[in-house]
Amino acid sequence: IDELLAEGVAGKRVFVRADLNVPLDGATITDDGRIRAVLPTVKALADAGAKVVVASHLGRPKGEPDPAFSLAPAADRLGELLGSTVAFATDTVGDSARSTVADLADGQVAVIENLRFNAGETSKDDAERGAFADRLAELADLYVGDGFGAVHRKHASVFDLPARLPHAAGFLIATEVGVLKQLTDDVKRPYVVALGGSKVSDKLAVIDELLGRADRILIGGGMAFTFLKAKGYEIGASLVQDDQLPVVTEYVERAEKNGVELVVPVDVVAAARFPDLKTKAPSDPVTVDADAIPADLMGLDIGPRTGALYASKLADAGTVFWNGPMGVFEHPDYAEGTKAVAQALVDSPAFTVVGGGDSAAAVRLLGFDENAFGHISTGGGASLEYLEGKTLPGLAALEG
Ligand code: 3PG
Repeated sequence: IDELLAEGVAGKRVFVRADLNVPLDGATITDDGRIRAVLPTVKALADAGAKVVVASHLGRPKGEPDPAFSLAPAADRLGELLGSTVAFATDTVGDSARSTVADLADGQVAVIENLRFNAGETSKDDAERGAFADRLAELADLYVGDGFGAVHRKHASVFDLPARLPHAAGFLIATEVGVLKQLTDDVKRPYVVALGGSKVSDKLAVIDELLGRADRILIGGGMAFTFLKAKGYEIGASLVQDDQLPVVTEYVERAEKNGVELVVPVDVVAAARFPDLKTKAPSDPVTVDADAIPADLMGLDIGPRTGALYASKLADAGTVFWNGPMGVFEHPDYAEGTKAVAQALVDSPAFTVVGGGDSAAAVRLLGFDENAFGHISTGGGASLEYLEGKTLPGLAALEG
């Protein structure tokens, strides 16, 4: 983007592919981290006199307009953060988008509606995606890719559109890639990785890669129970992915062979029912040993002994990557494990990277100062796939 700015963007229409896929409660944004993350790029372009057309997906609508997934709240928030009026187009490539962009003055910003309201955005068919990209290309003279959270998606606005316009990476993508490179190139050891989240299947590829890179892997969240079951523990009514047991068992064995410390919970906070996240009504949590969870209870957080154990495993780290909450942090009864890990990162002198929409939102919602972490990535799947060593379509397109 520095080169684009140096060449001059005044009067040019610049399409900024952002990731404004923020968590919403109705029309209220519960964490605006992703909007704040793209501000430097949007501001720099607007200050340089560009007509800035910001686009993003939000959620997973079905390829047609769906008010529940409108980007309007994100556009409003972007305007508040910029301290200026942001125009909003109620479609992606239709009359509203065309006239909104045509009416932009130099230095003004517009947001177009959710790209996934058009089936062409996510289509697996190259021609269908290409046709949508052609129409998006009509809205702009230049393209800036800055939606790091979506660079792992081979979608029209991420992959096909940059091939149709002069393009550059924005400040956010440059920062994210710079940080993640540090985790793959010359990492300062011990390299400790904490992984949580509900589904072990989402994390298998990254664990596979990390078993050859990390010194220690700490497992929490819903995915921990598949590991506990693979070890032959009684996991009661906890979430488990039985079909993943063979691969998880192989990972446990490989960790031992490779000298990677793979650490699983020693205790868990459990309850008979999943808590009500809306009312946050008190539930009846009990702390039980991780190898003997009663049949009628489900584990919902790592326990206090595990929190302390993980903190000790993080204390002497040179580098930490953390992805995925340790428990159902949205409910106060099951937030302590995630808090313990977040606090351990804050206390650590290591270079700490928090990846993943959920963990990034968790540290902010739990009241941690985001500046106390080395880097909070806006990418969930994107940062994991980067660490897996995969080619990311949205980055490849910007290099081409
Ligand atoms: C994310 O939230 O990880 C990104 O915005 C990508 O969203 P997606 O998984 O729906 O493609």
